[in-house]
Amino acid sequence: MSLSTKLISRIFLGLLFSSTVLAAPDINAGKESASVCFNCHGAEGNSTNSNFPTLAGQKPAYLANQLRAFRDGQRDNAMMKNIASSLSNKDINNLAAYFASLKNKGAGGDKELAEQGKSKAPMCFGCHGNGAQGLGVAPRLAGQHPAYLQRQLRAFKEGTRKNGPMRGIAGMLSDEDIRAVTEYMGSLK
Ligand code: HEC
Ligand code: HEC
Repeated sequence: MSLSTKLISRIFLGLLFSSTVLAAPDINAGKESASVCFNCHGAEGNSTNSNFPTLAGQKPAYLANQLRAFRDGQRDNAMMKNIASSLSNKDINNLAAYFASLKNKGAGGDKELAEQGKSKAPMCFGCHGNGAQGLGVAPRLAGQHPAYLQRQLRAFKEGTRKNGPMRGIAGMLSDEDIRAVTEYMGSLK
């Protein structure tokens, strides 16, 4: 083996076995630190108040991204900044794995508006997964509170929430579209 191949394989093995790469999330540890979250996000992450998003059944990669974004200041919310500032990356991965393992009970949505919003939804499914179940870093929208989703779409449109590709997409939706498509997403199981 040449020196450079040796060096490369050593770096590779080092990465492979370093704790950050290998650390599998610990759902039980996540569960133990989650009770503080229930105060706002509802028992086992099923929120009954649209001020607070449901976390149950959300994608783990998305949850972890948001917790880091609140902590590091890329997503602005005073309550969540306060909570996330004391979390390590390990805590975040454990909490994300725990909430992802729970079942989303579904917020529901206005029937008439949901019927209207259905026609817009296919343009969301490509990234948010079929039936908006979530896909990787794109969140599950199915069963989320419509009023919460509306606030987020407006925040993307106005540019106060910046991460990811949603600014352009939200910009294509009228206020009426936003109401209808979010009632549809909330009504999905
Ligand atoms: C004091 C109330 C409060 C507590 C306690 C709280 N949160 Fe939140 N959380 C919020 C609010 C409010 C939002 C919505 C922020 C916004 O509108 O951008 C939020 C948003 C989130 C989001 C983003 C969800 C999404 O769909 O984008 C995640 C993830 C999250 N919280 C995780 C947690 C976790 C994990 C805990 C416990 C360690 C926790 N929260 C505790 C109030 C709280
Ligand atoms: C090109 C891919 C893509 C498309 C198409 C797309 N989204 Fe998104 N969306 C994302 C990603 C990625 C995020 C996560 C952004 C972040 O990390 O903050 C997101 C976030 C969101 C959020 C925030 C949810 C939460 O829990 O806070 C809402 C609401 C949303 N999208 C609605 C929609 C709707 C409605 C459509 C269709 C009209 C749509 N998206 C189409 C990629 C997409």
